[in-house]
Amino acid sequence: MRLGLTTAGESHGPALVAIVNGLPAGLRLDKSEIDRDLARRQEGYGRSPRQQLEHDEVEILAGLRHGATLGTPLALVVRNRDHENWAWGMSPWPPDGEPTGKGTTPVTLPRPGHADLAGALKFGHDDARNALERASARQTAVHVAAGAVAKALLREIGVSVNAHVVEIGGETEAGTWEDVTDAARADRDTLGGVVEVVADGVPPGLGSFAERDTRLDTRLAAALMGIQAVKGVEIGDGFELSRLRGSAAHDEIQPGLRRTTNRAGGIEGGVTNGEPVVVRAAMKPLPTLMRPLRSVDLASGEPAEALVERSDVQAVEALAVVAEAAVAWQLARAAREKFGGDALADFVGAHRAYAERIRWPRER
Ligand SMILES: Cc1cc2nc3c(=O)[nH]c(=O)nc-3n(C[C@H](O)[C@H](O)[C@H](O)COP(=O)(O)O)c2cc1C
Repeated sequence: MRLGLTTAGESHGPALVAIVNGLPAGLRLDKSEIDRDLARRQEGYGRSPRQQLEHDEVEILAGLRHGATLGTPLALVVRNRDHENWAWGMSPWPPDGEPTGKGTTPVTLPRPGHADLAGALKFGHDDARNALERASARQTAVHVAAGAVAKALLREIGVSVNAHVVEIGGETEAGTWEDVTDAARADRDTLGGVVEVVADGVPPGLGSFAERDTRLDTRLAAALMGIQAVKGVEIGDGFELSRLRGSAAHDEIQPGLRRTTNRAGGIEGGVTNGEPVVVRAAMKPLPTLMRPLRSVDLASGEPAEALVERSDVQAVEALAVVAEAAVAWQLARAAREKFGGDALADFVGAHRAYAERIRWPRER
């Protein structure tokens, strides 16, 4: 059974949409739970005013009846409330009347670090907006909605996924994060950071070492690297492991198959080993600067300052929510592969039978 996700939607277009395939029938979803994750994505110190303007909410168009999945494709929509200000500029059809609102003049000043130049060159766009609208991290909203569905499925087999911020602007003390954000804002600059996602209750045996692309670590790394502005991923102690001797790096196996350490981050050989799955993602500073870097006007070829557009100072707390959704999605996918089933009871029953065979969960 393959769990599939297809998404579409521009940052200031009418809506973001997702189609989720491969869910079992009978999974109960709670709208307020999905909306809570959407709200968490919009929170955080250092976000742009757009987050106050828009309160994301999920709509379900298909695949759900009276709160339970039908085992058919689940269609999710998150509307862009800001679209009303961009209705002419982002109209899917040729707009009527005189240009009005936002997005009416072409973007020709590519921002270093954003997709503007690469996207304009790739697609031959004279207006880089045609590229940046989709490249924008706005699309993470619908991924968070899909992640909330994945978390609901994982809960049925006792798995929980939670993320937190580890570092903002190089600072590891939470008490300093607002200050460094304020300082960057005052300098009209941006920051990056690091988040950690921890999944508890993950049964051993998710993922595979049969091929590189079936390894769970491959899939988690790709999923996290697939998030806008993520430039580094660590599984467990990651880069730190390279500095240790083997005797200090590996997690000894105790009677009862317990471990006292979890430097591997719950994955050995691309397969979960029964310890919590722990992954980190590093985010670069956001590319839209209120004091722009040097660029070139694509219309004239002359030196110019890069585009300035409403933007976050840092979005590390939001990244935590997006990363949590990405990890939940990959774990749910791996669990669907292992436990299958058309009805939720089949899925849960297969997990239970497997847990009995391997005596999971072990006593701690
Ligand atoms: C939750 C989140 C919010 C973001 N907000 C902004 C933003 O306000 N301004 C900005 O320039 N980049 C923002 N980004 C990063 C850009 O989307 C990203 O840098 C850009 O699409 C180029 O992709 P790349 O950094 O992966 O190369 C955000 C990323 C995430 C994950």
